[in-house]
Amino acid sequence: MTAAAGGSAPGQPWWKSAVLYQIYPRSFADSNADGVGDLQGVIDRLDHLEWLGIDGIWLSPITVSPNADWGYDVADYRGVQPDLGTMETFDRLVAGAGQRGIRVLLDIVPNHTSEQHPWFVDSRSSVTAPKRDWYVWSDPKADGSVPNNWVSSFGGPAWTLDGTTGQFYLHNHLSEQPDLNWWNEEVRNEFDAILRFWFDRGVAGFRIDVCNIIVKDARLRDNPPATPDDDFEAQLFGQRPVYNGNRPEVHDVLRRWRLLAESYDTPRALIGETPVKVEELAKYYGDGSDELHLAFNFPFLTAPFDATTMRRVVEDTEAHLPPGAWPAWTGSNHDMSRFSSRWAEGDPAKARAALLMLLCLRGTPVLYQGDEIGLEDFPVSQADLRDPLGVRYWPAYAGRDAMRTPLPWRHGPGGGFTTADTRPWLPLGPTGRCNVETQRSDPWSMLMLARDLIALRRQTPELQTGRYVTVTAPEGAWAWRRGERVLVVLNMSDDESTLTGTTGHIHIATDRERDGESFDGALTLRAWEAAIAEIR
Ligand code: GLC
Repeated sequence: MTAAAGGSAPGQPWWKSAVLYQIYPRSFADSNADGVGDLQGVIDRLDHLEWLGIDGIWLSPITVSPNADWGYDVADYRGVQPDLGTMETFDRLVAGAGQRGIRVLLDIVPNHTSEQHPWFVDSRSSVTAPKRDWYVWSDPKADGSVPNNWVSSFGGPAWTLDGTTGQFYLHNHLSEQPDLNWWNEEVRNEFDAILRFWFDRGVAGFRIDVCNIIVKDARLRDNPPATPDDDFEAQLFGQRPVYNGNRPEVHDVLRRWRLLAESYDTPRALIGETPVKVEELAKYYGDGSDELHLAFNFPFLTAPFDATTMRRVVEDTEAHLPPGAWPAWTGSNHDMSRFSSRWAEGDPAKARAALLMLLCLRGTPVLYQGDEIGLEDFPVSQADLRDPLGVRYWPAYAGRDAMRTPLPWRHGPGGGFTTADTRPWLPLGPTGRCNVETQRSDPWSMLMLARDLIALRRQTPELQTGRYVTVTAPEGAWAWRRGERVLVVLNMSDDESTLTGTTGHIHIATDRERDGESFDGALTLRAWEAAIAEIR
């Protein structure tokens, strides 16, 4: 089987001209009224995704999991989680998507498994178990304490003592998520086989979970203390993650996977979850053609939505990426507050500007389900929390449920996500105006803006491949050119803003009344208005 072809630009690898869309399967569409979204639900909505112009979907984990971390604790890398469907449903999904020119990418979690994975069950059974060395085990210090100072990114020590053998095992997340030992060649071989298993079923690529931390320091050295220059997380944990992540050897694994991905007729794409600074991010592209195809840009995702900061992050990214490397842009995901809440603070004008930005930068945009209708976070009550982080840290931190609530397909009970009398696994937010059906019949909606921008991208080679060049703009505005003739302007201020020295016509403005408008010598945008134009 080959991964189905979509509408890519001539001479371009498909993932460069694609618009990707992240599906969080449990919250996308529930086909069997059990309150949990499923793969059949995705199949049922493929026509909608095709209509929207999506080239590829990335599904958050669909593999077998006891759900300590909702799929990110895998108990079988080759099986489909029964809640979500069967392998037969999955195969129908790949086939149905392929018929519509949509590729299917999966999430792979190589850093850790579930504690219930048979490998870990074996590994923890004795120090001589065949899979003992597949995980990271270490003796306590002489005083019985943890082997080193590493902390879990979910808080607390990264080590748990296992009574059976008296050694600690490493976990960079929950204690139910033991870290694999990537120094072990058998682990590497096993993951090669897992990648092939899915690639051979027609999977077009993987989003690689916490791909920057899979290899740890072989000597398990202590992390150094954080300094004031370090990022928020380092400050929070009091240490700089030098030895439990971003090790040079992770690049060997990525090079190996790239070769594997490129060994297929239609090369498979590797997208890394890489929560690192821009300079470090660049390294995950290797020489630009031998590691990740795309790496998620967290400095961009977490930047405040102001013209100077966003412009700087994009310019830095453009400057640091090696030749041939291709950026990826995203504003939301299942871990981060949605951009309509975080960047736009509920202001539709800002959300529309953010959407236009994402779809007009040089690189591959990855929308998160709901971005296209301007869905906002929906804070759930303590009683409804499902995310282990929310449960653990409430009320100081409510966790990630607010960005994982079901997608509203139409107004009314169940929201078209599930039936009216079914209680969804996470509560459904308000369905009033923010739902797919209502927005599909409103030419001025966020959804129609998304669809029209995606269509424009497909028709406009500059938007797909043209280089990014910053254009000098008044304070509070950010403007860039794509190629020679396409101009993108965002007025990210509360006042009117005029870009001078430019003549042309607007293709699409966030105020749709202005689509097609000509300008001669200057382009004026109202507060938080954005436009993409053709210039002469
Ligand atoms: C990634 C996932 C997140 C998960 C964590 C542990 O950051 O995006 O949802 O909790 O890895 O697997």
